Order: sequence, then structure tokens, then C-alpha cells
Amino acid sequence: MYIITLKNNKSFICDKNETIFDAAKKNNIYLEHSCLKARCSACKVKVLDGQTIQIEDDLILTDSERKEGYILSCNTKALSDISLDIEDLGDIELYESKVVPTKINKIEQLTKDVIKVILRLPPTANFQFNAGQYINLIKGTTKRSYSIAEILNDKSLVFYIKNYKGGEMSQYWFNEAKPNDLLRMEGPLGSFFYRPKEIIKELIFLGTGTGIAPINAILQYFDKNPELIQNKSVNVYFGARHEEDLFWSNSFNTIDITFTPVLSKPQGNWPGEKGYVQNSLLQDISNLKEAQVFACGSDQMIQDAKVLLLENGLEESNFYADAFICTN
Ligand SMILES: Cc1cc2nc3c(=O)[nH]c(=O)nc-3n(C[C@H](O)[C@H](O)[C@H](O)COP(=O)(O)OP(=O)(O)OC[C@H]3O[C@@H](n4cnc5c(N)ncnc54)[C@H](O)[C@@H]3O)c2cc1C
Ligand code: FES
Repeated sequence: MYIITLKNNKSFICDKNETIFDAAKKNNIYLEHSCLKARCSACKVKVLDGQTIQIEDDLILTDSERKEGYILSCNTKALSDISLDIEDLGDIELYESKVVPTKINKIEQLTKDVIKVILRLPPTANFQFNAGQYINLIKGTTKRSYSIAEILNDKSLVFYIKNYKGGEMSQYWFNEAKPNDLLRMEGPLGSFFYRPKEIIKELIFLGTGTGIAPINAILQYFDKNPELIQNKSVNVYFGARHEEDLFWSNSFNTIDITFTPVLSKPQGNWPGEKGYVQNSLLQDISNLKEAQVFACGSDQMIQDAKVLLLENGLEESNFYADAFICTN
């Protein structure tokens, strides 16, 4: 048994056989995370003192990060007492993840390769989540992650699902799935949700493709609780390749949102923004000192946006991301 101490002096006990992330969770201390499979780097943290051992090889941390003492808390065990350069998620309540049955209610085509899927849960499920989180959908032995895009009044959940050519679940969604199909759902998962911070003036959301899903859920949450964003401006950048891929537009009316669609490969006379979401953001908002950025979508966009925005003054602790890492 080792003692792990965080930057805010909270501490917890870690058994030598469990990951640091799991030990923290067992002690009701929640750390930043997403995939829990050593693939996304959301749980990256610097070890200030103590010895650790990585469980599986990961392809995420760079050699220089390893030399500086960074680890993935979901893939690392303790070999001594440790002190970590991280705070926990604080007072945010994380709902217990559970597996519940779910049925497809409706499937709607949004673009050539994106569908909107509505899933209904049994009334007894009492499913709760923090806007921005995702779930795993389980069909037979296949399990894939999908971000909740919206919760409807009858508590059904809405998802935006992309067709990954040759993908196993994509084959199901785009060729076989029909209303009343029974699946299982595991969740809620992840820590991609809004963190209120008094000092923040600009809330910036970067979404590419179906990465707009958790952003839509967070905006829906703001729409129901507009007091949360009083005195803050909300800017949403939605990136896609072509105009016909822009399946999302701002439909929230209680809150004031500046919405910018950005096309990386526009055809014809596209009058709007061209290029990448992070570049468009920098053209509009040059001072990122009092900004929080929430980025979701392709891993490439997230990595590029993080580097560029940190170079331009964004605090690392104000960049939150959920990468849609594919299974294979
Ligand atoms: C936190 C999180 C949230 C997510 N949220 C969403 C969401 O809201 N919406 C969404 O659409 N997706 C989301 N994803 C992605 C999703 O979980 C799946 O990864 C994605 O849908 C692909 O699953 P699949 O079964 O169709 O493809 P897979 O079978 O997993 O294959 C993925 C890709 O790899 C290729 N591939 C498969 N096998 C091979 C092989 N042997 N060799 C080479 N290439 C191969 C396929 O062609 C495909 O392009 C999320 C992922 C994460 C981690
Ligand atoms: S790498 Fe640890 S949560 Fe994704």
C-alpha cells in the first residue's frame, strides 16, 4: 500500500496491483480521464516525487515527456509513495457507471455518412450523466464509445454516429440497425464536461465532425441553466470538410452563442471560414489568457489545436479534450 498525494494535498491509498486512476476512484477522488486504455492521454500527469511502473506499452507519451516524469494514470502502478502534479476534479459529482439495456427508438440520416440515433432506456435505469460525457455501446462482443449529444424530455438519449469505412460497428449502424434493436449501454464515462471557473471570460468549443456531439450536450445544459455562463461569451467552431458535412447549426435560443462553421476543403463559392477550427479561433480571439477551450473530434485536430493554442497564451489547465480514438 502506498500513499498518493495530489497538488491540493488530497491523498489516497494505492494498492501495488491497481492503477493510480483506479485507486483514486475507489477513494472517491476523480482524476481527468477518457479512454482508460492508454490511448488518449487525457489522464497524463507529472510525477513530482516517487517511483512508478507503466503496465502496458503506450504510444502516446513522448520520450521527453517520460524523461520529465509524465505518466498515464490509467496505465501506471505505484512502486512507492508518490506525489502528483495534479488536482482532482473537485466538487463535480461523477455518476457511477453502470450497464443498462437500451433500445433503438429512431435512426435519422443527417449527412451521407452521419446518422442521428435516439436510444431509449428503461424507466428504472435512472441514468444520469454530466453533459459532455460518453457511453460505451455493446452489441454482442463489440463495444464502442459514443458521446451523448442530447437528452430528450422523455430521457431518451441522442447520438451522432459516423460511418467509418470498414468499421465493425459502422457496418451495423449503416446497414443493419433498426428501431427496437436491443443493445447494452455502459456509462456514463469520461471527464469532458464544463468546469466553472470565475476568472474565465471566453468559453470556446472546437468540434470536428461528430465531435460536435458532446459540445451540443454542454450547450443544451447551458441553455437550461443560462446563469452558468453569465458574463462569459460562448464561441463554437464546427469543422468539416465540405459544406454538405455541416449537419449541425446553433439552435439554442436562451443563450447567446457565436457560431462559426469552418470548412477544410470547401467546394464552389463557400463564403465562410476556410481551413482549421483552431486557426479560425485565433483570428477571432487573440487573447486566450482568460479562455477555456473544449475540443472534441479527431485526434489530429486535438493535438494540433493544443500546441497552437498553448503557444498563443492558453493555460494548459484550461484546455480540455475528448479524442474520438478508433478501436483499431
Ligand atoms: C471517448 C470517445 C467518444 C466517441 N464518440 C463518438 C461519437 O459520438 N460518434 C462517433 O461516430 N464516434 C465516436 N467515437 C468513435 C467510436 O467509438 C468508434 O471508434 C468509431 O465509431 C469506429 O468504430 P467502428 O466499429 O465502426 O470501426 P472499427 O471496427 O473500430 O474500425 C475503426 C477504423 O479502423 C479501420 N480498421 C478496422 N479494422 C482494420 C484493420 N484490421 N486494419 C486497418 N484498418 C482497420 C476501419 O476501416 C475503421 O476506419 C468515440 C470514441 C471515443 C474514444
Ligand atoms: S490514456 Fe488514460 S484515459 Fe486515455
